[in-house]
Amino acid sequence: EKGGYETFMLKEIHEQADAVAETIADRTARGDGVDLGDLGTIDDAFLRDVRRIIVVACGTSYHAGLIGRYAIEGWARVPVEMDVASEYRYRNPVVGPGDLVIGISQSGETADTLAAMRLARERGATVLAITNVMGSQATRDADGVLFTRAGLEIGVAATKTFVGQVAVMYLLALRLAELRGTLAPERLAELVGELKRLPHHITEMLDAGDEEIRAIAERHYKAEFFLYLGRHIGLPVALEGALKLKEISYIATDAYAAGEMKHGPIALLDDDTPVVCVATDSPVLDKVVSNIQEVRVRGAHVIAVASAGNEEIREHAEEVLTVAETDWMLAPLLAVVPLQLLSYHVARLRGLNVDQPRNLAKTVTVE
Ligand code: F6R
Repeated sequence: EKGGYETFMLKEIHEQADAVAETIADRTARGDGVDLGDLGTIDDAFLRDVRRIIVVACGTSYHAGLIGRYAIEGWARVPVEMDVASEYRYRNPVVGPGDLVIGISQSGETADTLAAMRLARERGATVLAITNVMGSQATRDADGVLFTRAGLEIGVAATKTFVGQVAVMYLLALRLAELRGTLAPERLAELVGELKRLPHHITEMLDAGDEEIRAIAERHYKAEFFLYLGRHIGLPVALEGALKLKEISYIATDAYAAGEMKHGPIALLDDDTPVVCVATDSPVLDKVVSNIQEVRVRGAHVIAVASAGNEEIREHAEEVLTVAETDWMLAPLLAVVPLQLLSYHVARLRGLNVDQPRNLAKTVTVE
């Protein structure tokens, strides 16, 4: 059942290339665009003219939504609002006809996410569910469904379903851009091509990077606190990396927009605090590097996630986790993988049961 792996979580981390490949396969078969298939009553005309998108989700699924927001706003120029479902449902949100509300839920059974979707639908919004489970409640409560095709996930910590969700958000963003004509055809084809190469990059990274990541985990697994920093698409990666570490290793973590550091969290740093910085290539990379320098001055220990071509980063970070070069907007799908593995090895070195962390349930059917 664990296919030779010591835990379900490790097996599922290694299934992530397949999860992405399956999720995008037929939807990108055309090569020069994206086909989303049958979206129920949500048709192309609605997607082309949609004025606003609102994403509701919990936990890791919320982080997938955050990444999707950058892609949808960046490529398709549709404004996207985000909220955690437990907040959205109780804040009497301004929502109605013409809005597209996207509920992201791996299980399709999370009580708060379902409630947020129902509320939006009652008020006349069009609701799209993104889920990994056929026949789940979310599929029945939505006007249309986009499935991730990650296969059954058993480990309580979401891994392969997360990359599936992020892949679906990229597909949706590209489809919106195609329908709305906001990307040149060549650019669209280029991004589809890059998306199709991601599974290969994930496989390569899992084969090559594991030992190095384990060595980093060995140096830091006794730390009492980890800080995670990122900007733009690096921020949701930082948030997800921090969540993964705290839920399976029970180490306190904080994740911040790197530019917010001076406004408070920098006070947490002392000698040797591990600070994980998402520093993949992007238009804000030089800003991230300045933040890394500020952290170093305080004596903290920087673990950077950087793109393969970036040699210079080694001058700024003690440890570097390398991911393949891709379009910068797609980098989160690669950058999250070493952070999952880092959390995994830290938790295992602390002797913990990563598949069933304390106090957590795989599906949260009560609010
Ligand atoms: C974290 C994790 C949780 C879930 C959250 C939402 O690893 O698994 O944060 O992401 O409980 O669950 P779904 O996606 O089923 O709605």
